Amino acid sequence: MDRPTTSFIRGTGRYLPERVVPNEEFTSTLDTSDEWIRSRTGIRERRYAAPAETSASMGTAAARIALEAAQLQPDELDMIVCGTVTPDLMCPSTACLIQAELGCGTIPAFDITAACSGFVYALSVADQFVRSGSAKNVLVLGAEVLTRVSDFSDRNTCILFGDGAGAVVLTSATDPRRGIHKIRLFADGARQELIQVPSMVTPNPPPGVGALPNLKFLRMNGREVFRFAVATLKQLVAEAREDCKKIGKEIQLIVPHQVNVRIIEAALDDMDYPVDRVVVNLDRYGNTSAASVPMALDEGIRDGRCKPGDTILLVAFGGGLTWSSALITL
Ligand code: ACO
Repeated sequence: MDRPTTSFIRGTGRYLPERVVPNEEFTSTLDTSDEWIRSRTGIRERRYAAPAETSASMGTAAARIALEAAQLQPDELDMIVCGTVTPDLMCPSTACLIQAELGCGTIPAFDITAACSGFVYALSVADQFVRSGSAKNVLVLGAEVLTRVSDFSDRNTCILFGDGAGAVVLTSATDPRRGIHKIRLFADGARQELIQVPSMVTPNPPPGVGALPNLKFLRMNGREVFRFAVATLKQLVAEAREDCKKIGKEIQLIVPHQVNVRIIEAALDDMDYPVDRVVVNLDRYGNTSAASVPMALDEGIRDGRCKPGDTILLVAFGGGLTWSSALITL
């Protein structure tokens, strides 16, 4: 067999919980309105997991759909990597729970914590294993139940978040024109206090925050994160366009982290990139952290906005701070 030179996306899937939560649901308990949420974020509604649903159960459902699209059986997988900041347990990992549920044997399975960049970080790990020849088929996921860490008395944050999962099967290939061309990963722990999600072992006060009450729920400095997100999205798209020139490609579709339509518009406005070539589904799903990019990618593929041979850009940014991009030919 030829040694793999690249890894390509062989199948994708997504799972959304059934319960739809429109903006109006917040107005009975919070000083907010549908008009404010729509105009400041672009979100109309989001999905909430049922009590029995978790990152692992939703990830498993998305994985089954991705495996079907890839025409692979669970026992043909060599590894599972899952991006999440809302794991079912701190130990074992969500990926281990998904591995058991799928019944794919004792293949390595582990989680990656990089907040909204979690899926692209996970994809980069999978890509390394595939290109080195150590793995042929890797299941890569982003799965989140952010509603379990949302403070429903805080109008600044709770209106943004939704639950869901997305999955991709990454497979080895020998055609260098196809697959992942370049992944860029960054982190800046010095800005750790801008977005934080607690765990059972979070100290009081939490790191980087100073004398604040104990951290029970996700907290975020929305205004600062907004500025960071616009600048980062702009920079990552500009860098990817330069990368594209070197390989003689053009970006057919951008799949950004879904957080706020104003962030996407502000970043792309003066870049001469057509907004209709950007996947936006945050109006229906809100911000689902690590699940957002693979869910949007699956939507872009299934509704025909990108097809085999197209070059696409995944871009994500979030807590850490972390930011990342992946330039891929499908
Ligand atoms: N309804 C009504 N008013 C509100 C609401 C609400 N839901 N939320 C905030 N406001 C108020 C504020 O209290 C403030 O009022 P004040 O002027 O009296 O103080 C006013 O609206 C403006 O607040 P801003 O924070 O400046 O509003 P902004 O336009 O920045 O929008 C938002 C806030 C939507 C959070 C925006 O900053 C944003 O999208 N930030 C980025 C978030 C993000 O990217 N998070 C990413 C990662 S999450 C993760 O990694 C898990």
